[in-house]
Amino acid sequence: MHKSALITGVSRGLGRGLAEVLIAEDYFVYGCSRTGQAFHHNMRHIPCDLSLIDNIHRCFESLLADVQSLDVVILNAGILGDIKDMSDTSVEELEKMMTTNVWSNKLILDFLLRSDIHVKQILLISSGAAVLVNKGWGGYALSKAALNMLGKLYAHEMPATHISAIAPGLVDTDMMDYLCNDVDGDAFPALQRLKDAQDTDSMQTPEVAARKIFEALPALKDFASGSFIDLRKIFSPDEYTDLMKAAKL
Ligand SMILES: NC(=O)c1ccc[n+]([C@@H]2O[C@H](COP(=O)([O-])OP(=O)(O)OC[C@H]3O[C@@H](n4cnc5c(N)ncnc54)[C@H](OP(=O)(O)O)[C@@H]3O)[C@@H](O)[C@H]2O)c1
Repeated sequence: MHKSALITGVSRGLGRGLAEVLIAEDYFVYGCSRTGQAFHHNMRHIPCDLSLIDNIHRCFESLLADVQSLDVVILNAGILGDIKDMSDTSVEELEKMMTTNVWSNKLILDFLLRSDIHVKQILLISSGAAVLVNKGWGGYALSKAALNMLGKLYAHEMPATHISAIAPGLVDTDMMDYLCNDVDGDAFPALQRLKDAQDTDSMQTPEVAARKIFEALPALKDFASGSFIDLRKIFSPDEYTDLMKAAKL
């Protein structure tokens, strides 16, 4: 009997890595994305654009038809938006980030609650940006801070489920390519830390980051449900201490 997982954003990056690791660990994975497809017989994928919130209930009804329980749900899909000053960011851009990074996850949690699917553990893929207050990370930082609060609020309403919001550390994905190659490092000094991490152990491949998340699943349950945990605090305490010292808190 397979364990089962729901993962959003499985087409590439961290979500793809998570799907591969969990399938290798004998899970059946239910996944969604706009552009991906199932890549293993122990996987079901549905195309779903999470920015179109009116479609979410129907997508998940179809993806999770006949599912009674899930061992883990990883709400991973997310967008970064453009790195720029808050004063240059329109409300429309902020709304797009909030819809994809926060409201879509709220609707997925509502779907899980109301469909009576028993979920043991939920991870919300957050970011250090939720707390680091870096210039330029405006809309993304707002959305991840809101996601952390969303996890705390749903912890009240899902007492039988353990919820964590986690920062995975730096992961070498399309999102990171944009940050390291396409943004003006002079205008946004926090980018230097990312560039310095390239070709070091701090810049994890999606597979390495996914494996750490999988290994952390039992330990995350030691924290109160609804907690935000930066995995660097567990796996790379020195890196975490340096990060916090550099943060503009
Ligand atoms: N990379 C890092 O260093 C890092 C650090 C901290 C946190 N994170 C977080 O980790 C998560 C994954 O990031 P990543 O680096 O793997 O990003 P990525 O390579 O850009 O992948 C993003 C994933 O999200 C999906 N997605 C985006 N918009 C979507 C939409 N509207 N509907 C459905 N799926 C959508 C994409 O699938 P489609 O395009 O096929 O729809 C893709 O599978 C994000 O929540 C991100 O904020 C990443």
